[in-house]
Amino acid sequence: MSDAEATGEPLPILLLNGPNLNTLGVRQPEVYGTDTLADVVELAEQTASELGFGLRAAQTNHEGQMIDWIHEARGHVSGIVINPAGWTHTSVALADALVVPEVPIMEVHISNVHKREAFRHHSYVSPIASGIVVGYGIRGYEFAIRRLVELVS
Ligand code: DQA
Repeated sequence: MSDAEATGEPLPILLLNGPNLNTLGVRQPEVYGTDTLADVVELAEQTASELGFGLRAAQTNHEGQMIDWIHEARGHVSGIVINPAGWTHTSVALADALVVPEVPIMEVHISNVHKREAFRHHSYVSPIASGIVVGYGIRGYEFAIRRLVELVS
């Protein structure tokens, strides 16, 4: 039993960011804005805390690492907020992994992917997501956490 379970607190929310999101604020600011990944994590922590939840945050550029983290989350998190970034449009393996924890999944995209190249219009993650937030900038992470808490409370 985890500490959270032992004290009756809700399990934390897991925030995952995929490839290249470590360069937020530098990469294509006209598309993704000037906020950094640290700003995203701070916003997410504040939102989760306001709602009585802890938050764990991680980012990786390595697909296998991401899949391992998702498997390890089973039984330890209330839900997952994920920006799968480029893997959104390419990875069956990531979508398969995301069903393993059996918790709500919220998919976030900072930009409006539907206004961009056609290859960004398809998501392997959306069919297994409880909700999708697209094109609200980094505030999308806040909205996703608020909805996730509604779903698990
Ligand atoms: C993104 C959109 C993806 O198409 C892209 O590959 C990203 C970021 C977004 O947040 O808008 O890296 O997920």
